Amino acid sequence: MIFRVSDLTSDDLEALTGLIMDDDGYSMRVFGRPPKADAARDVLHARPPSLGPESKITLGLWDDDRLIGVADAVRDYPQAHVMYVGLLQVAPDSHGKGAGRALHDALVDQARNSSGIATLRLSIVATNAEAAEGFWRRLGYEPTREAKEWVREDGVITTAHIYEKAV
Ligand SMILES: CC(C)(COP(=O)(O)OP(=O)(O)OC[C@H]1O[C@@H](n2cnc3c(N)ncnc32)[C@H](O)[C@@H]1OP(=O)(O)O)[C@@H](O)C(=O)NCCC(=O)NCCS
Repeated sequence: MIFRVSDLTSDDLEALTGLIMDDDGYSMRVFGRPPKADAARDVLHARPPSLGPESKITLGLWDDDRLIGVADAVRDYPQAHVMYVGLLQVAPDSHGKGAGRALHDALVDQARNSSGIATLRLSIVATNAEAAEGFWRRLGYEPTREAKEWVREDGVITTAHIYEKAV
């Protein structure tokens, strides 16, 4: 399948909201509640307070004019030379067709074009591991020794494990 990747902006808010709201599974597994109404705005703009807007990357994957995937990341977080990957979500009816890998390839391109990024880093929340861990391992991520307690909004206490990959 031929996909097109673009940087997403506020102009894509409606399409991004549709993508996120169409599959509440990620939010339920990671946060213990459906996606919030402003989830798309967060994916476009939210970043650690220490970072400027230029650090944020939000990529969309398009099949013709339909947004079928999103990935967001921040550069130089939690330290210089690291790119921290946040959400990577593909519309359920597009799973298993290479969309997730295509989005990740585009993130890797961004990392390689960002001076000094040597490592991609992300966390896998244990309650989402069945959906996500095999994918990230297939793309070359390895678990580090770092893990921290993760308390979902429904009170479920679980663990977030940190994974990394060299670029
Ligand atoms: C995880 C997710 C992004 C994968 O997207 P996808 O488009 O189905 O993945 P792809 O088709 O690009 O698969 C890429 C590779 O990973 C493998 N893969 C995908 N999901 C896998 C899984 N759950 N277990 C093992 N391998 C998996 C594929 O076989 C493929 O391998 P190949 O390229 O060597 O043939 C998608 O399932 C999703 O959106 N899930 C809900 C959101 C989520 O949990 N995201 C991850 C945490 S942010």
